[in-house]
Amino acid sequence: MTVLEGIQKSAEFLGKKSVESPRLQAELLLAHVLKLPRMKLYLNFERALTDAETNSFRELVKRRAQREPLQHIIGSTSFCGLEIAVNRSVLVPRPETELLAELGWQFLLESTLQCVPAREQPEGWTPTALDFGTGSGCIAIALAVKVPDARIVALDVSPEALEMAKQNAARHNVANRVDFLQSNDFQPQSLFDLVVSNPPYIPSAEIETLEPEVRDYDPRGALDGGADGLDFYRRLAGEARGWLKPSGKIMLEFGEGQADSIRGIFETENWIVEAIREDYTHRQRILIATI
Ligand SMILES: C[S@@+](CC[C@H](N)C(=O)[O-])C[C@H]1O[C@@H](n2cnc3c(N)ncnc32)[C@H](O)[C@@H]1O
Repeated sequence: MTVLEGIQKSAEFLGKKSVESPRLQAELLLAHVLKLPRMKLYLNFERALTDAETNSFRELVKRRAQREPLQHIIGSTSFCGLEIAVNRSVLVPRPETELLAELGWQFLLESTLQCVPAREQPEGWTPTALDFGTGSGCIAIALAVKVPDARIVALDVSPEALEMAKQNAARHNVANRVDFLQSNDFQPQSLFDLVVSNPPYIPSAEIETLEPEVRDYDPRGALDGGADGLDFYRRLAGEARGWLKPSGKIMLEFGEGQADSIRGIFETENWIVEAIREDYTHRQRILIATI
């Protein structure tokens, strides 16, 4: 079987199993087996696959057909250009969340610039952030990579998720600037410039209706936001004021259709809602607020 035949047959098979973008998925799986960038497959369409390659590819396609996510099969995903390892203990980082991380590091970098001319702190000023519900560590690690002076607290209730996050931080050489904290009842030791979070926000009863890749493979504790999906926003609106410096900001991802409720929750707790930002598909997805 050639590379092209392998892709075509597998794409057809995955399509019949209702896998989204079956051709792309087949190409990514074969690229993984052959240890090639996906685009290089196009230069190798006529290359014959060895028996070992064919067998490994078939095995992976079978797993994908059973709706195991591509990222779990490959063992990692790309987030803000960083390779982030994933397993069953963590939510697979989503492209929408890259915007949240980007807004976070832009704010920390701007804060750093505003602070330097003041020369009020001779030993230098360290921007700080709390990533509430860090999961794989993707946001915390992106902030630490993009803001070289920053110190980040990466908090999660799940010890298994924190294990994965620690490995990812080490892989990107930021483990010395990220403190990992396992807690369900966070009490800060010091105040932060930024609190960032992509908390669980799916209403409990909706979880069963999600695609199998999400429902069966992302941890339930990373999805379940309580009866109306808003439990974590109520908690953060009530508690996170006490976690921020006076000039600090909170930035939160939320689900489609939740913008008005979440704005209401934060305004009721006397936050100033500075902006509701849209993701790249023009859906309102991020709240930015100050105290
Ligand atoms: C939607 S996932 C986000 C993971 C990662 N930040 C991302 O954006 O991909 C939510 C995370 O919140 C964590 N979590 C759930 N309840 C929590 C709690 N009470 N305190 C801290 N973290 C919690 C979950 O374990 C999960 O890792």
